[in-house]
Amino acid sequence: MQKIMAAITAVNGWVPPDVLTNKALETMVETTDEWILSRTGIKERHILKGADMGTSEIGVNAINGLLAKRGISAMDIDMILCATTTPDMQFPATANIISDKIGAKNAWGYDINAACSGFLFALATGSKFIESGQYKKVIVVGADKMSSIIDYEDRATCIIFGDGGGAVLLEPSTDGNGIVDSILKTDGAGRAFLHQKAGGSARPATHATVDAKEHFVYQEGQTVYKFAVTNMAEVSAEIMERNNLKAEDIAWLAPHQANKRIIDATAKRMGLPEEKVMLNIEKYGNTTNGTIPLCLWEWESKMKKGDNIILSAFGGGFTWGAIYLKWAY
Ligand code: UT7
Repeated sequence: MQKIMAAITAVNGWVPPDVLTNKALETMVETTDEWILSRTGIKERHILKGADMGTSEIGVNAINGLLAKRGISAMDIDMILCATTTPDMQFPATANIISDKIGAKNAWGYDINAACSGFLFALATGSKFIESGQYKKVIVVGADKMSSIIDYEDRATCIIFGDGGGAVLLEPSTDGNGIVDSILKTDGAGRAFLHQKAGGSARPATHATVDAKEHFVYQEGQTVYKFAVTNMAEVSAEIMERNNLKAEDIAWLAPHQANKRIIDATAKRMGLPEEKVMLNIEKYGNTTNGTIPLCLWEWESKMKKGDNIILSAFGGGFTWGAIYLKWAY
């Protein structure tokens, strides 16, 4: 019997309409458009505004478009995995909220939190449910409302992040196209350099934690940068070697968009020219779990059936990894 693989059969992205430009940030913190662009590659990012608007809103918009594209109903979905670091609430899971909002009454699911690598962790997880043969339609959504945990008085972090996300549909395939391999890693010691200090069970919210701004992203940028450059490049090279792929065999790299310099270093280590690298950090900044599906969405028309694609990411945890897939349509 032919092996069942999990193939991405549709992709869709969504970003909120409000845009926060570098120029606007110049009026909020001591920074310049030139510094931001040269150090990160970012020109603008989108911000989700409005009362009670959480990450599920991004997921709902991305998934509704995905269902329309594929011509199926929410009732056809077996499972929704939501990769997010900014869930609507501590509980229930944002995946459950999304299921309710879109009317996916036959679906079950849950959230996966692996910070910026979350979409890869969720994609690898979702693919196993398809490969098992038990599930036929699994949605993996990666979305974040990073503006909900950013201090817009901290120039070291507020320039980087944005809101947005995307979703893919996984279905069984037996023609050899789909998710071929994944290498996923964590090192919890890295939590010291990138985390949210309060709001969890170790340090629940109090007046003092709010006053001390402990509910915002804390990042030691330079240290994270060093680990990101090394690990994202290494894991991307590792998955190529393990699958006997040369640079010329790869059609596209879909990298997490945290910093253009990290992406350039990864592409260089893989021997890829910049024309093969998906890059949209300029428009969206770092949307955490949203970056990779937003890339796949924007490059959808350029990818061809059978194309060898590498996805790779690095993020808080630390977490990092790479996925090798053959595009299925
Ligand atoms: O996706 C999750 C994982 N996260 C990442 O991958 C992020 C990794 N880190 C980075 O991308 C970079 O470290 C940053 C973009 C966050 C910072 O860039 P950097 O080149 O590492 O800057 P730096 O922190 O070393 O700061 C250099 C200088 C400092 O000034 P002094 O001490 O040299 O006088 C900063 O105070 O730049 C200053 N600076 C700024 N200047 C203008 C920091 N932020 C800004 C700013 N505008 N927004």
